[in-house]
Amino acid sequence: MRQLLLRPGAEELNYEIRGIVKKARQIEALGYDMTWENIGDPIQKSNKIPAWMKEIVADLVSQDHTYGYADSKGMLETRRFLAGLNNAKKGAQISAEDILFFNGLGDAIAKLYQFLIPTARIIGPSPAYSTHSSAEAAHANTSPITYRLDPDNNWYPDMEDLYNKVKYNPGIVGILIINPDNPTGMVYPKEVLQRFVEIAKEFKLLLVADEIYQNITYNGYEAISLAEVIGDLPGISMKGISKEFPWPGSRCGWMEFYNKNASVEFAKLCATLENAKMIEVCSTILPQLAIPRIMQHPLYAAYRKTANAKIGRRSQLMEDILSPVKGIKFNRTKGAFYNTIIFDETLLHDGQHLPVEDARIQVLLDAWLREKEMPHDKRFVYNLLASERICVVPVSSFCSDLRGFRVTLLEEDEDVFVDTFERMAKSIRTYLKSNKEVAVDA
Ligand SMILES: Cc1ncc(COP(=O)(O)O)c(C=O)c1O
Repeated sequence: MRQLLLRPGAEELNYEIRGIVKKARQIEALGYDMTWENIGDPIQKSNKIPAWMKEIVADLVSQDHTYGYADSKGMLETRRFLAGLNNAKKGAQISAEDILFFNGLGDAIAKLYQFLIPTARIIGPSPAYSTHSSAEAAHANTSPITYRLDPDNNWYPDMEDLYNKVKYNPGIVGILIINPDNPTGMVYPKEVLQRFVEIAKEFKLLLVADEIYQNITYNGYEAISLAEVIGDLPGISMKGISKEFPWPGSRCGWMEFYNKNASVEFAKLCATLENAKMIEVCSTILPQLAIPRIMQHPLYAAYRKTANAKIGRRSQLMEDILSPVKGIKFNRTKGAFYNTIIFDETLLHDGQHLPVEDARIQVLLDAWLREKEMPHDKRFVYNLLASERICVVPVSSFCSDLRGFRVTLLEEDEDVFVDTFERMAKSIRTYLKSNKEVAVDA
C-alpha cells in the first residue's frame, strides 16, 4: 500500500467474545463437541421461541408492506408504542420523535461514539462490555477510560473512583451505565443511579444507559430505568429485543433521547445521529413491526416472567456448584444472564495447566500459550477449552485488571447446565492445584 490504511484507534477494536471462537473451532475441527459459554445468544442455548410469537412474525412476513423500507427513525406506530411504555414509568417523558431505531444495539453503540470529537470521552464500567469500550476507545484513538465495578461490593460501581476520574479529566463528557450489567449480572439500586445523576449534574455530563437487559431480572430484583432518575438532565437509553424476545438475529435496537433540549450540544448530537440514519436510509423493518404486537400479546408478560425465573434458578444452581470451590469469588446474579468469576490472583502462576487427553489438542494448546504477555486468566481459559471443551471469556478481555472469566446462565437443558458447571468446578480445582508450589485445599 502506498499509504497506511488504518487510523490509530482501529487497533482498539477487539472482541474476545467472538475471538475465542476461532480457537474453539480448531478443536471442533478435530471432531469434538464444544460447550459454548462465550456469547449471550439464548437461541444458541436451545431457547424455544413460543408459537404465538412465531405466528406474529409469520403473519407480518405474509404482508407486502413488510418488504419495504421503514421510516428513517423507525416505524411511527412502534416509536409511539415504545414512548408510551417509557412514559408509563412517570420519569422523563418522551414522544415518538425522541426514539431512533438501529440495526441492533451494536449498530447504535458504534454510531453513538463515531460522531463525538476524539477528545470527548465517555467513561464506562470495568469490567466493560467490549462493544462499548472498544467503540469508545476507537473514536478516541486511545485506550478506554473506565470506573471500577467492585467485586467485593456486589459489583456496584466504586463511586469515589468515578468521581475522581471525572473531576480530574475535563475530557470526560459522559458516563456510560450498563444496567443490568454485562458481564457481571449486577442490577444497580436506586441510590447508585441517583449518585450517577448527581455526578452528571455537577460536571454537566451526558448520561448514557445501556438498558438492553432492563426486563431480565430475577431472584426478587427489578431494574430501575435511567428515565426514572434522570430528572431534567440530557440522557440516552439504549434498548433492544435481542435478549428479551429473544431475537438477536433481528438486528433491532433503539435509542431513547431524554431531555433533548437540555443542552444545545446534546440536541446537536441527537440530530446528527438522526441524520446519519437518514443517509443510511433506515433500519430493519420486520422486527419493528413485530415489537408492539409481541409486547402487547396477552401471553408476553407471563412468558418473560417464566423465562426470568428459569435464569434465576440457574443462577442458584451455579452458586451451589461453585460456592464450595476455593480460590475464586463471585456475586449472585440479579439481572441479565451472565456471571463473572474472579480468581484469587495470588494463586495464579505460570505453568498451571489442565490435563488434555488428545495429543492433537495439546499441540494446539501449546501453540496458543506461546502468545506473549498472556494474562493468567486467558491461560486458564485456553486450558479449559483444551481440557473440557468449554468456551468461556477471560475477564482481562473486558478491560479489567481482574483475573477471571465470564459464564452465561443460558443453557435451557438443566442436566447440561449442571454438567458444564461441575466440570468447570473440577477444572478450577485441578488448575489451581496443578502448580506444585501452591497447595489449595479444595
Ligand atoms: C450490554 C449489551 N449491549 C448491547 C448488546 C448488543 O445487542 P444487539 O444484539 O442488539 O446488537 C449486547 C449483546 O450482548 C449487550 O450485552
